[in-house]
Amino acid sequence: MSASKAVNFPIERTQHSRLSETDFSNLEFGTVNSDHMFVVDYKKGEWVDPKIIPFQNISVSPACSSLHYGQTVFEGMKAFRAPNGDLLVFRPEKHLERMNNSNRRLCIPEIPAEYFYDAIDALVKLDQDWIPNQEGCSLYLRPFIFANDPFIGVKPSSAYKFMIFTCPVAGYYKGTVKVIIESDFVRASPGGIGAAKTGGNYAASLLPAKLAADKGYQQILWTDSKEHKYFEESGTMNLMFVINDVLITPSLDGSILPGITRDTILTIAKDWGVKVEERRVSVEEVITAFNNGTLQDAFGTGTAATITQIAEIHHNGKDMVLPPVAGRTLSNKLNQTIVDLKNGIGEDKYNWVH
Ligand code: COI
Repeated sequence: MSASKAVNFPIERTQHSRLSETDFSNLEFGTVNSDHMFVVDYKKGEWVDPKIIPFQNISVSPACSSLHYGQTVFEGMKAFRAPNGDLLVFRPEKHLERMNNSNRRLCIPEIPAEYFYDAIDALVKLDQDWIPNQEGCSLYLRPFIFANDPFIGVKPSSAYKFMIFTCPVAGYYKGTVKVIIESDFVRASPGGIGAAKTGGNYAASLLPAKLAADKGYQQILWTDSKEHKYFEESGTMNLMFVINDVLITPSLDGSILPGITRDTILTIAKDWGVKVEERRVSVEEVITAFNNGTLQDAFGTGTAATITQIAEIHHNGKDMVLPPVAGRTLSNKLNQTIVDLKNGIGEDKYNWVH
């Protein structure tokens, strides 16, 4: 990670580790937390009282402004153990950069690099036995910051809490997903907060995702807010298609989250000589490609999900059934390459692994 001033903070170890009670063979994403967490407060323009303490509930005022107006930002990262025992975190600089971009959009102070990096290093070292050994599993890191003023007027808060906790996780989805193209609701619109990783974007997705789930689809494909003509994201992931051997993904136009897995995939694919296009992708183009047999693949990308292939796309009463996953050479190879890199297997030519 980039050079930063090291910070010292006290570490209070738990007296009651939950490690031995945890069933690592049946992990569900986001249901188990490891033993410790990092906390630092921001008050009167200064970061104060950084510490690592046992994972526990926190207390906030009922008037805590983020509970009312959603002034919050989060990140999602993963830690792995390499075959030689090293503890690895993937592209932490990129996550800090995105977190601070999100913070600026939400009027939240930027997080100093030293708190972010040193807290992650210390937490991962301390809870390293929580990194699962099972294939496809990892220790998910959840850095987040929230406004903590006990005040219900609408204004940027003057107090914040930045925290990081970690959870041993399996993959976010089990296998492929069936998706439905969303043409009523929108995730984000130009000038909004779609490019920030903030709770409101996820809250807005809950009702359309529930309506899709009621019809048997695990995700929605978001379309643009003006005409519902162009694809944006796939539920909580970025979206990619392979048409005629070209890897195509919606360009980052301000309403799409700049995914770090998205960037990783585009960089690797370009390096492999794959033709990559970042541009507007219309619903019509994808339907035409399906009808003429040139739609080879569609998949979502994200830290939690890595690459999740789409089995079926539903639109206007019709299901487009995509080719079997076994023959999707590019996304299978990309997935394996990224999983290997994160696990410390193979050459890290981009210097992404910390
Ligand atoms: C991630 O991919 O890390 C995410 O933030 C998705 C999350 C909403 C589970």
